[in-house]
Amino acid sequence: MSRIIAVVSAKGGVGKSSICTGLGKALCERGLSVLLVDTDISLRSLDVLLNAGETAVFDWGDILQKNCTASKAFLPITDKLFLLRAPASGNNINSEDFVDLIKRISKSFDFVILDSPAGLEKGFNLCVSAASEALVVSTPDEVSIRAASVAADRVRKSGISQQRLIINRYSKKLSLRSVDEVIDGTSVRLIGIIPEDRELLLSANGHSLTSFSSAALAFKRIAGRVLGESIPLKLKGLNL
Ligand SMILES: Nc1ncnc2c1ncn2[C@@H]1O[C@H](COP(=O)(O)OP(=O)(O)O)[C@@H](O)[C@H]1O
Ligand SMILES: [Mg+2]
Repeated sequence: MSRIIAVVSAKGGVGKSSICTGLGKALCERGLSVLLVDTDISLRSLDVLLNAGETAVFDWGDILQKNCTASKAFLPITDKLFLLRAPASGNNINSEDFVDLIKRISKSFDFVILDSPAGLEKGFNLCVSAASEALVVSTPDEVSIRAASVAADRVRKSGISQQRLIINRYSKKLSLRSVDEVIDGTSVRLIGIIPEDRELLLSANGHSLTSFSSAALAFKRIAGRVLGESIPLKLKGLNL
């Protein structure tokens, strides 16, 4: 059965979109098929991160408006990884239609990963309505912890019982809050830590992440844990 995961925080810039692409690719490397769905209506960033902006024609708004079939709107990134772009405008979107669509198309994939926008409005609500599990993202600083905590609370209230925490941009030297402080502040069980990695920063400009970069290794470990494997956290050598 396919799994539908929302990647959330109430704050922008904490790494939600980077995590969607990194985790999506890591799951594909395990032989699984993944659909990434951008719900950041009007802003949209996954197509840029995946270097696919120029080639995309349709988005999920087109499917809802019956301008195209669902399969026409899936943009192949690799043979296992697909992108469904967000529409440029969200005026006429009906939440139930979106949820029905995601449930229907999820049958064609092992994983559907929903990239939530910042804030707790339309895009966030679409994500948590359609998902059955959530990954809450926080960077190790107070504002981000609060934003993750508020998002986690909303996720809980929406009826999603399965949510886990990803701490992103962790650096032993530079982080303002410890791993324990982030876990305590969000009240969400940890699934993984992604270190501050310049390669991931560059990947936002279309460079692809090398498979041995520290962020790529962290994504592989998180993908393993998402799949239920017991992979211990090794904070000491930053082999997270
Ligand atoms: N672990 C990391 N190390 C370095 N830069 C990162 C890391 N995670 C994200 N970034 C950078 O932070 C910026 C915001 O990331 P993004 O994924 O767009 O966040 P969000 O989707 O939450 O707004 C991007 O420039 C991205 O490359
Ligand atoms: Mg984003």
